[in-house]
Amino acid sequence: MSRRTYPNFILKEIFEIPEVLEKICRETFEFSGKVRSLLRGARRVIFVGCGTSYHAGMLGQIFFEELAGIPTLNFIASEFNSREPIFQKGDLVVVISQSGETAETLVSMKLARENKLPILAVVNNSKSSMAKRADVFIDTAAGKETAVAATKSFMAQMAAIFRMAIFLGEQRRKITFQTKARLEQAFSKLPDGAREILSQSGVVKRMVLKYQKRRQFFFVGRKLNYPIAFEGAMKLKETSYLHGEGVATGELRHGPMAMVDRNLLLIFLIPKDSVYEKNLSVLREARKNGGQVVAIATEGDRVVKRYASEVIYIPKTLEVLSPFLTVIPLQLLAYFSAEVRGYNVDKPRNLAKWVTTE
Ligand code: G6P
Repeated sequence: MSRRTYPNFILKEIFEIPEVLEKICRETFEFSGKVRSLLRGARRVIFVGCGTSYHAGMLGQIFFEELAGIPTLNFIASEFNSREPIFQKGDLVVVISQSGETAETLVSMKLARENKLPILAVVNNSKSSMAKRADVFIDTAAGKETAVAATKSFMAQMAAIFRMAIFLGEQRRKITFQTKARLEQAFSKLPDGAREILSQSGVVKRMVLKYQKRRQFFFVGRKLNYPIAFEGAMKLKETSYLHGEGVATGELRHGPMAMVDRNLLLIFLIPKDSVYEKNLSVLREARKNGGQVVAIATEGDRVVKRYASEVIYIPKTLEVLSPFLTVIPLQLLAYFSAEVRGYNVDKPRNLAKWVTTE
């Protein structure tokens, strides 16, 4: 797809998401022997990354624990290497990085090496320092990403981690062969789901224009959509210099609810899943307190429409796969928020695509 079709790289990269997912589906779900043996040998997994890659690790922790039943930790790289983490025999360090060059993540690898831990790198550049220094790497193969704010590469990171989790899940007999096949089948429908959401980008733009005066945003999500709430908030900060905060839905009542007023917009991630009822109860309370709510919900959900000011619908999918779809409207929201303000959305002020100093 030519850059010329799009006004900037970030929009092009968001619209490449269906192709990225399709490519992942086309390639087999098999890993190399070395990746398989490192994963098989793990008794505990430690994810390490920065920014968006850290958010992929947050989701990785849920995928690995729920689908593979393996204890998992997740660290921000600069915290990991500033502390003295306690390691155990059987720990596998999984570094996540789009560029494969981020300083803090490289320093974390050094720490892991000094402690003789095996390292698997999940990177979008097979020639990067991380790919070279790890025992083995998985290439997320999202293609070159030019815009500073990561979009399609996040999708590819989530996909790689999901595939690792189902591989391990089957190995560890946490999921059956049938469940694995069902997950893969549902995964193969994601490209169409992503396309459907992108075809409604006008809805997101209208919403952005409607709430253009707001300067504070809470991105609210639970369980699988808690990491997505963080990612949505960061995308908004990066591109539009607005205050976005990721909040765990259950935590809203423990402090942040006091901030609900006319200046704040709540973006509620509320797909039809195992935590839907709990989420709806918090959403209703926020609404009762005078909060304006935009819900990201599953198509066909009429109930949520009664309580939210606006609803952006995503297609139905398995609960575990919803983050792949809920994140797209948030990426579009960040994009349009920057666009309507006339900002340079590919190169936000004060930020670099990758950070090479600690
Ligand atoms: C920078 C970028 C972020 C990115 C982070 C980690 O801060 O601005 O968008 O998420 O680095 O980059 P990495 O290449 O390690 O994923």
